[in-house]
Amino acid sequence: MNLAHPLAPEWLSPRTDTADLEAALLPRDAVRNDEGELTLGGVSVSALAAEHGTPLYVISETEFRTRAREFREAFTAAFAADDSGVGAEVDVYYAGKAFLSTHAARWAAEEGLCVDTASGGELAIALAAGVAPSRIGLHGNNKSEAEIRRALEAGVGRIIADSLDEIDRISQIAQGLGVEAPVMLRLTPGVHASTHEYIATAHEDQKFGLSLTPAVDYQRSDHDDAANPYLGSPAWTAVERALDAPGINLLGLHCHIGSQIFEAAGFEVAAGKLISFLGQLQQAHQVVLPELDLGGGHGIAYTEADTPRAPRQIAEALAAAVRTACAEHGIGIPRLSIEPGRAIVGPAGVTLYSVGVQKDVVVEDGVTRRYIAVDGGMSDNARTVLYDADYSAVVASRQITGEHVLSRIVGKHCESGDIVVRNVYLPAAVRRGDLLAVPATGAYCHSLSSNYNYLTRPAVVAVAQGESRVLIRRETEEQMLSRDTGYAP
Ligand code: LLP
Repeated sequence: MNLAHPLAPEWLSPRTDTADLEAALLPRDAVRNDEGELTLGGVSVSALAAEHGTPLYVISETEFRTRAREFREAFTAAFAADDSGVGAEVDVYYAGKAFLSTHAARWAAEEGLCVDTASGGELAIALAAGVAPSRIGLHGNNKSEAEIRRALEAGVGRIIADSLDEIDRISQIAQGLGVEAPVMLRLTPGVHASTHEYIATAHEDQKFGLSLTPAVDYQRSDHDDAANPYLGSPAWTAVERALDAPGINLLGLHCHIGSQIFEAAGFEVAAGKLISFLGQLQQAHQVVLPELDLGGGHGIAYTEADTPRAPRQIAEALAAAVRTACAEHGIGIPRLSIEPGRAIVGPAGVTLYSVGVQKDVVVEDGVTRRYIAVDGGMSDNARTVLYDADYSAVVASRQITGEHVLSRIVGKHCESGDIVVRNVYLPAAVRRGDLLAVPATGAYCHSLSSNYNYLTRPAVVAVAQGESRVLIRRETEEQMLSRDTGYAP
């Protein structure tokens, strides 16, 4: 009989094998071979570790491409013209902040996706990958003049403006270059969502976007704004300014309501607000903005506790909500876009670590927690520390069934908070040199990685059909330390 450990969280079940975990959390082309060793994209983890070292980020190219396709197909189908001919085209932008390399950008483009970038550096990678500039978007709440200029010179398909100040700067730079800047405005619809919950508030207290709530001065004054609840809001002011600004072609509205969202309800409420805004705009200015972007944030499974919806379910719920709201406000359905990052690359990624030191620490009378230290840590996965994120793990280099012990996987950094996996049942027989695989690390692990304690950043390799290839080289100590002007090896 397998009893839950007293320190284990409620969602974590005791186990004697990992078959169900592996099926739920690993890329679809991850399987055990006849010797019980995990293979990723047809390559055994021991071969990956021998060739590329550990820690190692491994990305299943097939899983990445499949997910990209699933999003595109699901949203395209859900928004296709219905019996009465009402529908819209959909663009799926891969949010490169989750993980970006020239190869990943190309995979996204080859699967029919556009690429969303959040800085000049991400834009440089997308352009270097050969993604058509018209299929690249540039985000950022504080873009530099150089970033805006670079985007306009390259001819990106959209710049998502985040403030009144930025509308003016884009307008000036565009005029200087003699081009028309394609602009979306990022609005904050007062909806925050994460996992199963969303909160709708009138206000937004955060740095992103333009609020739909009228400014306090405006609310206090004597306006009869019953007809237009958005009059006097930063969003309304921004749209009017962008419509008038020379050098700006206002394409539409954008919002992004949060991260790791499982249910469609938050997206539906946000879409409803932006569509009602578009309706008001049509009434007040006879302007039809052609595009609407509902951002990213689609959730994935990190542990057995997570049960994300398939893209098709989210797409269908959203399409129904958009169709209803557009009919209600008397507008046609705008061209729709979304920006998933995590949901495309997250489940495609696995991090391999080598097991080092182990300790059993008595936490309270008769209660022991096992600490298993690996050769990486918070420098290659900051999410556990930063967001209290939960992960899972399995022994990858061999299959061990039987007794499993509540374990905590920690890194090698000089910091007690340096935890990779807070709680996981691992086989009692784990020993030094075993390889551990932490699933669902494709998103925001490499992109948030650091050189804390002067650890070199791991390589990122892609696996597919029995082959591995390096996407991003492992950093060498020489490269890392050469930034120190006094360093001479
Ligand atoms: N679009 C916009 C405008 C965003 O701000 C984001 C994420 C995305 C799309 C992509 O969201 P995704 O589909 O990947 O959830 N470092 C955090 C996540 C920060 C997300 C910031 N914005 C984490 O590791 O959970």
